[in-house]
Parts: sequence; structure tokens; C-alpha cells
Amino acid sequence: MSDNSPRTIPQHVAIIMDGNGRWAQRRGLPRSAGHFAGAKNISRIANAAAKAGVKYMTVYAFSTENWKRPKDEVSYLMRLIPHFCQRQVKDMMKHNIRLRTIGRTNDLPDFARTALLDAIEKTKDNTGFTLTIALSYGGRAELTDAVNKLLQDPNRPAGPVTEQTLASYLYAPDLPDPDLMIRTSGELRLSNFMLWELSYAELYVTDTHWPDFSEEDLQKALDAYMHRNRRFGEVK
Ligand code: FPP
Repeated sequence: MSDNSPRTIPQHVAIIMDGNGRWAQRRGLPRSAGHFAGAKNISRIANAAAKAGVKYMTVYAFSTENWKRPKDEVSYLMRLIPHFCQRQVKDMMKHNIRLRTIGRTNDLPDFARTALLDAIEKTKDNTGFTLTIALSYGGRAELTDAVNKLLQDPNRPAGPVTEQTLASYLYAPDLPDPDLMIRTSGELRLSNFMLWELSYAELYVTDTHWPDFSEEDLQKALDAYMHRNRRFGEVK
């Protein structure tokens, strides 16, 4: 292990949960079955991450571009949101997990937003682990929304905008930047996910499709992270 290796568990893990469709296709199932299995896997991996010592996990569940998918698929994913919330709240209370969201959640249908707000409210005092779900989320949309919020804020700091000021207008400015970004299903791209926050994250890509991504796969990613050489642009 080199001197710059973090040696410790990442504080914040971000995940692009890709491959639900391919997982389903391989089994001769509809894409919706892949999304259902994928949604179930979120809690399995959140509980495993919390157990390993991770404090924050942010998952990309629905992007600003995903609205362009076939109507049936979008509708299924929207209906999965209240199902996920209702099923998971009890488990999140048991495991001291707080639920949050990032994204243009005002664009979600009312039934989905209400279910999310209810789960967010019920879990708001949980302190063990924070699970953030990115919904109607895009990195470019987040930066655009941040700039607009800043321009509309009469109390914004005077003078030139600093990185710190801009960051304070992001969707969840109190969350630390992710240390590790995991992408399942093999594609080597960011797909508009947390463009600002992932600036110095270590990237880890596995061919495993998200519904199959297991506790052991998570441990492999955490182990790989702990052997990385993090320099943050400096010579160390
Ligand atoms: C990418 O796989 C996955 C998505 C676009 C959605 C991710 C959603 C979930 C894991 C479940 C939703 C969770 C909640 C809480 C509602 P893909 O469908 O693009 O797969 P493919 O690339 O193999 O086609």
C-alpha cells in the first residue's frame, strides 16, 4: 500500500446502479423486473455499507434524462418509489438510517413525492447512516439550479462567487463529497451524476449488474478504494 492510500473506509460512497434492464433480459423477464430487483438491492447494500463503516451512500435512481424512456417504464419506476418507501421505512428505523433525496423532486408525481416526504420525515432523526436517493437528478441541472438559487438569493455573499459559495447552493451542501463512486454493469462514464461532488472521487467499475451486486462485491470495491493513491492534485 502506498503512503497516500486512504487505508480507511470511504466516508461517502456514490453508486450508479446500472444494468437492471440487462439483468432482466438475461432471465427473459421484463425490464420492470430488473428495476424491482434493483430497488430491493438498495437496502441490502445500504445495510452492508453501514456495517462496514461507511456513513453516507448516494444512489442514482432516476436521471433528468430518464424521463425520455418509454412511458410505461417511467410510470413503473415512479410507482416503485412509494413501494420502496413503504417497505423500507421500518428497516431504516431499525438500522438507524436517514433517507434524503437530491434532484428536481418537484417534477415527480404527487404520490411519489408524498411517499418520499413521509419517509424523509420519519427517518430524519436517524444518525447512523444517510441514504440519499438521486431522483430526477442531473449534475448539469444541479449546477444550473444552484446558480439560479444564488442569483435569486438577496442574502448571497457580496463579491465574486467562490467555489465554497457555489457549493453551498447545491441540493445537499451538508453532505461530504463522495470518496468512492461505484458503477455497476461495466460502462465507463459518469452519465451526468454528481459532476461537482465527484471531482476527486475514486472510480470503481464492475461488470456485475446492479441487482446482482452483493455485499461481497461492495467489500471488493471498498478494498480497492483503500489501496488507491489519493493526491487531490498535489505531489505527495
Ligand atoms: C439503470 O439500469 C437503472 C436505472 C435507470 C434505474 C435505477 C433504478 C433502480 C435501481 C430502482 C429504482 C429505485 C427506486 C427507489 C424507485 P438500466 O435500466 O439502464 O439497465 P440497462 O442499461 O441494462 O438497460
